[in-house]
Amino acid sequence: MVNEAKIEIDASSSLNELQEVKVKYLGKKGLLTAELKTLGSLEPEARKAKGAAVNMVKNELEMMFEARETALKDAELARKLSSEALDVSLPGIPFQAGGFHLITRIIDDLSDIYRGMGYAVVQGQEVEDELHNFDALNIPGYHPARDQWDTFWLKDNRVLRTHTSPMQIRFMEAHEAPFKIVVPGKVFRFEQTDATHEAMFHQLEGLVVGEGITLADQKGTLAEMAKGLFGSRAKVRFQPSYYPFTEPSADFAVYWENPRTGAAKWLELGGCGMVHPRVFEAVCKLRNDDKYAHARGFAFGLGIERLAMIKYGIPDIRYFFQNDLRVLRQFRGNLD
Ligand code: DAH
Repeated sequence: MVNEAKIEIDASSSLNELQEVKVKYLGKKGLLTAELKTLGSLEPEARKAKGAAVNMVKNELEMMFEARETALKDAELARKLSSEALDVSLPGIPFQAGGFHLITRIIDDLSDIYRGMGYAVVQGQEVEDELHNFDALNIPGYHPARDQWDTFWLKDNRVLRTHTSPMQIRFMEAHEAPFKIVVPGKVFRFEQTDATHEAMFHQLEGLVVGEGITLADQKGTLAEMAKGLFGSRAKVRFQPSYYPFTEPSADFAVYWENPRTGAAKWLELGGCGMVHPRVFEAVCKLRNDDKYAHARGFAFGLGIERLAMIKYGIPDIRYFFQNDLRVLRQFRGNLD
């Protein structure tokens, strides 16, 4: 009976068909039920033996029905799922991966290098007053940077800052020495633009104030920066110069081997020097105390575009800000 039932169970291709087979064997009038009913008329010994045999068959049949039922249900579910399936594999709308702007990258690189030397990275304001942009930095009224042809003046006598140096004053007004800061940010000049001049560009200012600070610290710091940017063989050179807010003042250049061309040359990057006593005097006045009266420190400033032009081989400063994707895309794989 088990073999016959198995054939019929396997052959039933729906739950309904299976149910019919089940009734045929296990139903009230089913074949197995009929066998069970014959037990009553048997001798006790024979009844026991047959009873056990019939029960085994019953168990076996029930297991077979259950297994087939599960298989049919699974198949039914799979059919349903596949008939109702949504094709989610259509290609999407491509999304262009972006990257950081080259100027942002240089600022990030520089900030990392200086943080590594214990500097704080701070930011100033882009609209400044005359006092912070000029006077407190010992830039006299006759200095050419004050000319309306050099500077963007607002109607209320404020200016779009012409350099990041005003943050030297602002930081000392609000903080005590010793400290080390760098200040990256935008600066503005009323310029005729060409391949190396823009009306808006970026600088990085540095200021270190503390006991016993010398020009040697300044040079070591800039050398460390040069190595961080251009590799361990980079060197720094100072050349005497003049800035109203430093004394002595120097311009600094970095010796750098271009990995693309192999050419090596000195590259003017910015200015630096020991903070001028008049700058500290101006800070004392603004703070209304004499905490900076005998302070010592060094300051430096450099142009970020110039650095980016060299590092990435960009021949014209205007390319940075024209948003021409042909320029920017070359460097987009840089979301690091
Ligand atoms: N502020 C100067 C400029 O815009 C750059 C500079 C030179 C900054 C010397 C400094 C410095 O802090 O010491 O040309």
